[in-house]
Amino acid sequence: MLVFAKIKSIQQKIKSLPKGTSIGFVPTMGALHQGHISLVEKAKKENDIVVVSIFVNPTQFDREEDLVNYPKTIDSDLSLLKAVFCDLVFTPTAEEIYANNIQSANFNFDGLEHQMEGKFRQGHFDGVGTIVKRLFEIVTPTKAYFGEKDYQQLQIIRKMVHKSQLSVKIIPCDIFRETDGLAMSSRNTRLTNEHRNVAPFIYKTLKQAKIKFGTENALEVIKWVENEFKKEPLLELEYFEIADEETLLPIKTKNEKQKYRAFIAVFAGNIRLIDNISL
Ligand code: PAF
Repeated sequence: MLVFAKIKSIQQKIKSLPKGTSIGFVPTMGALHQGHISLVEKAKKENDIVVVSIFVNPTQFDREEDLVNYPKTIDSDLSLLKAVFCDLVFTPTAEEIYANNIQSANFNFDGLEHQMEGKFRQGHFDGVGTIVKRLFEIVTPTKAYFGEKDYQQLQIIRKMVHKSQLSVKIIPCDIFRETDGLAMSSRNTRLTNEHRNVAPFIYKTLKQAKIKFGTENALEVIKWVENEFKKEPLLELEYFEIADEETLLPIKTKNEKQKYRAFIAVFAGNIRLIDNISL
């Protein structure tokens, strides 16, 4: 496994690969867990080589506190990647990526960016669009792998690829969960024991909401979820929405032909957790 911190050196390596080598790419912010590793394993199966980037992208953080405290575990990240035979790792600094201008570009994702996370995290998706586009230019992947936990991010990246006519194929990957149902996230390690113990309530409620959506209308399900969270004082519901899987627009009336997903964001103390379920 080779590790590169400089754009020029990883580009040189990639250019030196035999013509037609397929490149699977897994962009990450490090603090790797089994969810990330499952993406690397999938990429490994589907491509000649796998590139993983580890970069905590400052422009996608809306809260300074979240950026400063984002877990950084580079040594264990590299051991995990080595163990699954990752080929190349890209670990640039912010200066390497942004030079002296740590700023994001402005994107138009046809409205996807104004829903859910976009309402609560100012500038987040401009930051994501900026870094993912930059990484795609550097790594020139054949396929890139994204977890469905960040479902809105996945849709936004698909939109960016389509609008910018990039040749990379975006591969969605199922959410990886702890045995108690909590969606794996690098932020889980920052939960207190107390919050970690109640956090599975999020997915439990999503599963119940899915069942209810079979017989009740969206408004009833939303009200029910909001009430459930009132009973759990350690968790603060930020939003629960039922939206069209493609447009991410909130559901108005249920239409048999449309596919819906329920999306949730919850604060467990200072830690913000998101999750979603296909309905
Ligand atoms: O999902 C993430 O970890 C990040 O948003 C990504 C895609 C690596 C961009 O920084």
